[in-house]
Amino acid sequence: MNNVCYSELEHQFSLDALDDWETTSGLVESAIRMMRDRLPEAEARIFSHASEAREYREIDREGLSSIPEDSLFIACLSMCGSGVPLSSFFNDFVPDDSLLRYLLEDSYGGFYIVPVVHRFSLLAFILLCAPEGAEKPDTILPAEASFVAELVGRLRINLYAASIADSRQRELLKLAEFPQVLRSRQSVAELTSRILDDLQKEVAFDAGVYYEFEEYLDRLLPVVWQGIPEAPPVLAPGDGISGHTMVNRKAISVPDRARHPSFSRIEGEAFLQGSFLSVPIYTDKRLIGVVSLCRYSDNPHPLGVEHRYTLEIAASFLATEINNRQLYDELEQSYFSTVSSLSRALEAKDHYTRGHSERVMTLAVGIAHELGLSAESTRRIRYAAILHDIGKIGISDSIITKPSSLTAVEYAEIKRHTDIGYDIVNDSRFFEDIRDLIKYHHEKMDGTGYYAKHKGDYPWEAMIISIADIYDALTSDRPYREAFSESRALKSLEELIGIHFDRRIFDAFKSCLSRSRSD
Ligand SMILES: [Fe+2]
Repeated sequence: MNNVCYSELEHQFSLDALDDWETTSGLVESAIRMMRDRLPEAEARIFSHASEAREYREIDREGLSSIPEDSLFIACLSMCGSGVPLSSFFNDFVPDDSLLRYLLEDSYGGFYIVPVVHRFSLLAFILLCAPEGAEKPDTILPAEASFVAELVGRLRINLYAASIADSRQRELLKLAEFPQVLRSRQSVAELTSRILDDLQKEVAFDAGVYYEFEEYLDRLLPVVWQGIPEAPPVLAPGDGISGHTMVNRKAISVPDRARHPSFSRIEGEAFLQGSFLSVPIYTDKRLIGVVSLCRYSDNPHPLGVEHRYTLEIAASFLATEINNRQLYDELEQSYFSTVSSLSRALEAKDHYTRGHSERVMTLAVGIAHELGLSAESTRRIRYAAILHDIGKIGISDSIITKPSSLTAVEYAEIKRHTDIGYDIVNDSRFFEDIRDLIKYHHEKMDGTGYYAKHKGDYPWEAMIISIADIYDALTSDRPYREAFSESRALKSLEELIGIHFDRRIFDAFKSCLSRSRSD
């Protein structure tokens, strides 16, 4: 009796090792090892569920043989309570699947099959196979069957836990790509307007809203929403659900709003029905916004704590990205203001050029809009236009303000302003992408410009600065001539098509002018 107890205890201890898994494959390997010890005449194989591939396969033999999760074989096996001889399983349930039968019985030498079922779903199945060359038994001994049944009992719980851990890991892995998605958004405005599209991939929801926190007015302003027919109202601190999140700066996760003792009584944000999550987006210093999502009560998968964790991680990525970008934009803006005020100070010395850069900027941005350029390209053109002549800071005043025509030496000197301008902005990483537009604003597409480049050798957007620059020069008074009328200037510009700029730029410029006239 003592011996029996001892061996039983030893057996229990050995099964305890199954609770000690770190990975699914480690768990499956230990189970196989245990079966090898107890059933030396059989070779055990475990086919486990690979949910992402929707099939059952051996972990260490990926792709060798796989059984689709929606096959009749799997459906019947899920309903089997315990292990059965493989041949009787095929005969009784799936007699038509000769291909699978050949694979499992002949290729693998399988003779006994044991399902591992948890909550009506088949997590895995064990196939006992005869080693190569050995005779295949019909079934297994009762003692062996009871050992396998016991092992399956332990394996079931652990495989289930491992599958949850695996799916969490996959979710985390997916979330790891989120910062990359955020970085691909070009501006804070684009990032904000796409916030819900991006979050939908992380936590699918039926309705959702993103509020921006307006610090000065201390309120939440709805910026984007989905699945909500009308614009959500602006929220004061404590209003609705999101207003609570705003005040407490803590995530709220409620599985059923209608049954919740407090949230069922709150009237605001009625569109947040069923299960909902509300998460603040904030850095350690300030609140940026609040995002609130819900799944309606008829959604079979309500939002729960695990979604809250996912959303909180996503929100912290969002907060970092928005904060960094806002800081960067503020820095860029302050650098831009400094440099453009230098440019204005320079123009102020000469009343003939006063306001020139500002006007060139307005025209160039108008052309960019006319051409339908992206917000990012338009930004570059705006900055390059206001700063295009910044290099004149380095040219002597006597040359810049000289009322009569320039000598060859003076002309050579003034031509240096494009190089000087390039060097000035080259020192700032904010303007790396506009330095070439400044350098080449006196370039001509036929190769007769400052650097003798042809169209295609320099950024084409420089032609936008160039046409706006020439037009403003023509329509401004000069010491040696009066300002051209608009129609005369346009006629002169038309003659420059194919020399300074191409027809597309000219046409866009012309429509931009007539548009500004009609506005
Ligand atoms: Fe210039």
